[in-house]
Amino acid sequence: MEFKLYGCLMAKLVYTEEELFRDRDDLTPQTIGGQRLHGGFDPDGGYHPPRSLVRNEAIAAWTEALRARGGELLDADASLLRGPSVPNVAQQCLLIREGLGQTFWNGLTTTGKIEGRGRMLAEVEFPDLQDLVVEDISQMAIGHLNGGLLKAHGWDEGGQPDLGIGGHDVMWFVARDLAFGEVDYPDIDPPGNIAREQDDRLMPDLPQAYEGLVSFLMNLLMIEFRAEIGFSNTQKILRTQDVFIGRRGEAEEAAEIIERIRTDEEIHVISLRLYLGELRNAHLKTVDGREVLGSEFIDPFWEGLVHWATVERPVLTAQQQYETIKARILEHPEGERILEAFDALSDLKKAA
Ligand SMILES: [Fe+2]
Ligand SMILES: [Fe+2]
Repeated sequence: MEFKLYGCLMAKLVYTEEELFRDRDDLTPQTIGGQRLHGGFDPDGGYHPPRSLVRNEAIAAWTEALRARGGELLDADASLLRGPSVPNVAQQCLLIREGLGQTFWNGLTTTGKIEGRGRMLAEVEFPDLQDLVVEDISQMAIGHLNGGLLKAHGWDEGGQPDLGIGGHDVMWFVARDLAFGEVDYPDIDPPGNIAREQDDRLMPDLPQAYEGLVSFLMNLLMIEFRAEIGFSNTQKILRTQDVFIGRRGEAEEAAEIIERIRTDEEIHVISLRLYLGELRNAHLKTVDGREVLGSEFIDPFWEGLVHWATVERPVLTAQQQYETIKARILEHPEGERILEAFDALSDLKKAA
């Protein structure tokens, strides 16, 4: 997506909504068991995330422009994935083998429902960041948030039910039902809020609506990034040969669906790192009329969020999960034996 102007190459940095939503025109839609899902396959069978033809090029061009201004994507690496997991892959497989698959079924259900909540990104009008940022943002990704980027993200998560197209929410449910078939576990809802709750304002120098938006983008990046732990563990479980015996083909297909979700999520993670990288590199207008480099706000907030999400919360969640699963195991006639085997596979001892 480049054009020549006066002999030099200029990347295109302004995109219409229609361009950001565009798909290749040779894709076969993703359909499983009669359910239309987003994305599609090229003539060679390769999967393409929805609305990714121009969006990916645009992200690359904005990233290049950010680097030319001396900026960089917000740093996010594998260290953000640390912390204990309960149950881990081996524990989850043990539970399924012992006929205690409800924990895994619940996990797939709540993940799908949390993904579905992401649809709000397509439905909410966010405040225009141009009122916060000193520099002209019309040629940046953050100048396109209300111009298609957040709508595309929201549809990726929660689909377009009015068009009968399922997003990540429905993809998780389809994957779950492939692996499990018909079960009579009761439906379950995820916790109300999975972002960090905060009572105090951490960036009081910014107008409140913008503090809310910047903090929302950072929380979303953290959630998207750490979701990878659950996604890859889910695939390992589905691909374990001695679970879902008798439904191996379906379990493998379910793992393929999760692979497509992971491919889609890469766009979300890189987009959010880009928005925050642009904001770090720009000057923001404070409530008392100063112009302050964005990194002064973003870096301390991000540091606190990293500690909460990778140290404090995993230990708390792991303990709560352990108590719930322990109670479920002990309802089994051979509960004591299974609990002993479950504990022997624990991450918590290693983490302690
Ligand atoms: Fe998602
Ligand atoms: Fe996502």
